[in-house]
Amino acid sequence: MKGQPVSIDPQLPLPEKLPLSDTGMGIEQVIKQFKENWTPHLVGASSSHYVGFVTGGVTPAALAGDWFTTVWDQNTQAVSGQGDVSARLEQVTIELVKELLGLPDAFMGGFVTGATMSNFTCLGTARQWWGAQKGINIAMDGITAHIPVLTATAHSSSIKCLSMLGIGSRNLIQVKITQGDREVMDMEDLAIKIKALDGAPFILISSAGTVNTVDFDDFNAINALKKTHNFWWHIDGAFGGFAACSPKYKHLVDGWQAADSITVDGHKWLNVPYDSGIFFIRKRHHLLSYETYRNSNAPYLGEVENGALLETMNFLNFLPENSRRFRALPAWFSLMSYGKKGYQQIVENSVERTRELSAWIEGQSKLMLVAPTRLNNICFTLRKQDDPKVEQFLYQLNKDGKVFMSPTLYRGKKAIRASFVNWQTSKEDIDFIKSALEKTLEQF
Ligand SMILES: Cc1ncc(COP(=O)(O)O)c(C=O)c1O
Repeated sequence: MKGQPVSIDPQLPLPEKLPLSDTGMGIEQVIKQFKENWTPHLVGASSSHYVGFVTGGVTPAALAGDWFTTVWDQNTQAVSGQGDVSARLEQVTIELVKELLGLPDAFMGGFVTGATMSNFTCLGTARQWWGAQKGINIAMDGITAHIPVLTATAHSSSIKCLSMLGIGSRNLIQVKITQGDREVMDMEDLAIKIKALDGAPFILISSAGTVNTVDFDDFNAINALKKTHNFWWHIDGAFGGFAACSPKYKHLVDGWQAADSITVDGHKWLNVPYDSGIFFIRKRHHLLSYETYRNSNAPYLGEVENGALLETMNFLNFLPENSRRFRALPAWFSLMSYGKKGYQQIVENSVERTRELSAWIEGQSKLMLVAPTRLNNICFTLRKQDDPKVEQFLYQLNKDGKVFMSPTLYRGKKAIRASFVNWQTSKEDIDFIKSALEKTLEQF
């Protein structure tokens, strides 16, 4: 993606729609049309100069795997290998990701479109678990009760999941965030909120990597609560879960092995192409997943009862989708090609490059960090300017297509985010980004 603009002037007029011809124009003409009219409007999101949102690049091995995914065009469902063996490869890939992240054998998992759907898959099973504590089968009978969900820093996608799951985003019980500059769950306030529930079961959503400061909740402290309280513990590790790949940073996820469910994202630090998210749920909960996602009245989809066994499972009875892309293949290609050291290097390089740019920003007279840089994200702003100027600065920076950063709000103030998860980011890329910032700063 070198050379392709990484952002587009939003004022550029969009390409026109051509009429659908009777006979079609042929693939060569279509490629020409695409190149001339559409690619100038596409952003090079896999470029190492694109540091907006949290967007990984695509490793060469993942690209090859993705081509094979399309060429083979499997509908990845039954592990038994009747019809195809893609579901078995998905299971194997889940095992590899567990190995990479130091997760115990106690987890099963699968691939979905992204972290939003992973959170949905996990929280759907959590909802069924909560019903089971009350003697209700929510999948069959629906929700008639208020399900307490506690969180301090849930990502918007988890809140969206509560809406989609009928739990209700308004029913969230907000736990305080610690004082100071961390985006972390306040354990004292959590204890107060739990006490108020008077022993009732609940769901707890915690974070492994918040979007501004990449902070991690205290998983050992949460784990300790498991001994005395009855709750489903979900961790959203979409952003920071891959810190587990590095001996330098794996302490950040210490204790997460005891969670009931975990989300990580493939199209972030795993550097496989969109769309790719991964969920993990403890194997001992697999019947709850099965109750939630089973296809109960479609004999043509195969024998359902055997599908409840993990050895003969069919993914379509354990997660929301029925038809499924062979999404594990790009991840398998990449994991097998680069191994543990390869991913350790990607993670450590991302953090080093982040720190390099962060230190430079700190030394600039016109820029300042608004939050400490802890791992692989920088939150910064213009030192002396107001919110509208910050928006203008970001607009100007992105406008000429050299780099792309995204906006954020930190403690009520507008700021800019630069997030590093791309496998290709080098020292030269950081110099390039610095000079793009310098050039834009001349106008402010
Ligand atoms: C912590 C966290 N959770 C969930 C998501 C949603 O991920 P996706 O866009 O893959 O659905 C994101 C996306 O940035 C995230 O940072």
